[in-house]
Amino acid sequence: MRLPPNVDHLECVRCGWRTTDFWQWGCQRCGGEVRMDVVYRAEALDRLRADLAHAGPVRDHWRYAAVMPLPDNPRLPPLVVGGTPMAEAPRLADWLGVRRALLKDDGRNPSGSSKDRASSVAVVLALAAGSERISCASTGNAASSTACLAASVGLPATIFVPRRAPEPKIAQLRVYGAEVFRVDADYDATWDLAAEVAARMPWFNRNCAVNPYLVEGKKTAGLEVAEQAAALLGGEAPDWVAMSVGDGCSVAGLCKGLAEAHAVGILPRLPRVLAVQAAGAAPLVVAARTGADPRIPVADTVADSLAVGHPRNPDKALRGVARTGGAWVAVPDAEILEALVEVPRRSGMFGEPAAAAAAAGVRRAVAEGVVERDATVAVVLTGHGLKDPKTALSAVSGPVDVPASLDAVLARLGGDTPTG
Ligand SMILES: Cc1ncc(COP(=O)(O)O)c(C=O)c1O
Ligand SMILES: [Zn+2]
Repeated sequence: MRLPPNVDHLECVRCGWRTTDFWQWGCQRCGGEVRMDVVYRAEALDRLRADLAHAGPVRDHWRYAAVMPLPDNPRLPPLVVGGTPMAEAPRLADWLGVRRALLKDDGRNPSGSSKDRASSVAVVLALAAGSERISCASTGNAASSTACLAASVGLPATIFVPRRAPEPKIAQLRVYGAEVFRVDADYDATWDLAAEVAARMPWFNRNCAVNPYLVEGKKTAGLEVAEQAAALLGGEAPDWVAMSVGDGCSVAGLCKGLAEAHAVGILPRLPRVLAVQAAGAAPLVVAARTGADPRIPVADTVADSLAVGHPRNPDKALRGVARTGGAWVAVPDAEILEALVEVPRRSGMFGEPAAAAAAAGVRRAVAEGVVERDATVAVVLTGHGLKDPKTALSAVSGPVDVPASLDAVLARLGGDTPTG
């Protein structure tokens, strides 16, 4: 398998070591878990600029193909990935404490999360490479996303999820037909086990931290945020873009997409990225503030997708956010649960706990004086609320149970019966 035609080389994010080997996914100089970045040929950004000039409204993410690592004549999955809506949410802005708030409903991807952006690129490359099977380890969303996109092109998938993955995500995996190993362990141990198994098998590895091409799929969230925010703001850039972080792959992609959008003139300036972790799983927040090794022994949060103690893409995430002049913030579970309810009530958009965490992060960053009160903030909701109804139900009071009787309803409503 050769590098895609628009890719010049892969480059170590830490030391700059380069390779043109498609399969060389780690740095031979640094070793360990240091990641490679995809570097495009010089003309790729010019092509992107030209493509977007004729592209019309945002409908799916293949409009950014000029800066995506696709082979010649790619076999694209038939599902619509990307092109998710963004809308202004003034009542949410009041709650967040900022001047304007834009919300991007990325849970409206085919499997209900932003992960489809990466999985769609993964299946295209797996097919081009002639791989017989695709595999991944995931807190749940990358898993269901891989299973979904694999099903759409008829590629078998083997998935590893931790013990605590919520039932709806398991249901997705099973209906899409993936082979599923639910590991009796946390995500960090699940990831290690999956990596060991995958190393012995001729499978296409869809782990976003390992496979450098996948962050390039996630990057399209940044490009879309840029295009949609510019359209809503009359050509202006938002001051901040907020996203929640587990392994760090998604926020790394967001940063790269925003930078490319700025480079081709979609945005007049680069927004700052607010990277949000759950307080019970915030090794990258600590690392960003103190330089400590980003690893904690136990990760625990109500936002299952963020329960990562050993993030697998720390360099790309920390460097990406720093390049935007951004900031890191940790939010306690109580604030995530509050956002889980306030975001849908004030916008009509329902994100799972990990997605709502990004909004909670904005509110906290405002309180801490990191985000200014007159700021315009875009928040990416990375997963759909119905991914975890149990946690959502724990944050609200129940419905009013009544018999099928008009009198009973009127009695519960209190007042006199209206006439007329
Ligand atoms: C809904 C949701 N938001 C955010 C994240 C964090 O993404 P990453 O692990 O790439 O940092 C995840 C990852 O599983 C997720 O499922
Ligand atoms: Zn290196």
